[in-house]
Amino acid sequence: MSSAKNDLSDEIMCPCSGTTRGKIQKLFEDGLDIDAISRRTGAISGCAGCEWDIAQFVKELAGLQGK
Ligand code: FES
Repeated sequence: MSSAKNDLSDEIMCPCSGTTRGKIQKLFEDGLDIDAISRRTGAISGCAGCEWDIAQFVKELAGLQGK
């Protein structure tokens, strides 16, 4: 994977809804919590297979912000 991009924002975190990492980050930065992000994007409301990954990602973002 020598061509791996640094930018992961286009990575789809929830295939059911097509929600990308960048979209989740944007909504988080807009002040939405994980429940609101789920309602807004449809993420975690299909098979919920993405729930753990998205929860971890939001925790990471929260940690970066010191929240
Ligand atoms: S992958 Fe997110 S709800 Fe199915």
